[in-house]
Amino acid sequence: MGLVTTKEMFEKSIREHFAIGAFNVNNMEIVQGVLDAAKEENSPVILQASSSAIKYARINYLMKMVEAGIEETDVPVALHLDHGPDFETCKMCIDAGFTSVMIDGSKYDFEENVALTKKVVDYAHERGVVVEAELGKLAGIEDDVNVSSSDAMFTDPDQAKEFVERTGCDSLAIAIGTSHGAYKFKGDAKLRFDILQKVKEKLPNTPIVLHGASTVIPELVETCNKYGGNIPGAKGVPDEMLREASQSGVSKINVDTDLRLAMTSEIRKVFAEEPEAFDPRKYLTPAREKIKETVKHKMRDVFLSSGKA
Ligand code: G3H
Ligand code: 13P
Ligand code: ZN
Repeated sequence: MGLVTTKEMFEKSIREHFAIGAFNVNNMEIVQGVLDAAKEENSPVILQASSSAIKYARINYLMKMVEAGIEETDVPVALHLDHGPDFETCKMCIDAGFTSVMIDGSKYDFEENVALTKKVVDYAHERGVVVEAELGKLAGIEDDVNVSSSDAMFTDPDQAKEFVERTGCDSLAIAIGTSHGAYKFKGDAKLRFDILQKVKEKLPNTPIVLHGASTVIPELVETCNKYGGNIPGAKGVPDEMLREASQSGVSKINVDTDLRLAMTSEIRKVFAEEPEAFDPRKYLTPAREKIKETVKHKMRDVFLSSGKA
């Protein structure tokens, strides 16, 4: 099977109450770890690359790695641009063969966001590519834009309906209390499920996306810190909340931080325990394995997408 869009996997996720993991990829080990997990779990999956990931890995390498990966599996795989900052970046990815793009107009006011999103939707739909848009602001750091917690702005359900109708976007990222990175909550984790429910009432057939949805898995943080890391007090969205979201109309759940932690914790461990090792395969092999294990756990126990390919 070649790359697919997210259309059918999202329709199934809405019908059968599960979510699809969208995992940020930057290099070969991450692509392989995620795809091996999807294959073993028989789960649909979204590989996503941010514009900084594209700068790092180079678009041609990303395309070829993903193309090589899907030759080894029959599960549905979509390739998505994460946080597309402008029309030009979306166009570049559509022209290169991505099957889905996000245009992130959340930093603009409502009307500007509508206009920019509509422009991307028109270009994408003519070429069979689907578009994710964002309404509302996440707390924390979004690419280059720094949104302080006090500016955090939850999605307004009425505006969400108007936004989807006017732009024709295929899926919508909403702000209900998640944020990017390893520090999501100062006290207890809290998500506004009431807002999610209202959005779903207004837009029952629109796939909803959660950004900033890493668990910040405590064991991975612990391993990083044990072997020389310095990420004290990191905290993410608990698995139970993500499972509830997966069963309550969220179709796509974005994960980057947990993959970073999985990779870094294993590399740190090898560096600390085997200081004589200098063959990169010595630390990249367990790092890739840990990514696979982490993704499998999410598909099976949290997003409930195992067996849904
Ligand atoms: O939401 C942003 C993702 O975690 C991507 O981060 O721009 O550092 O690749 P990045
Ligand atoms: P995390 O930082 O929680 O992994 O979120 C990733 C994300 O939203 C990518 O768009
Ligand atoms: Zn994001």
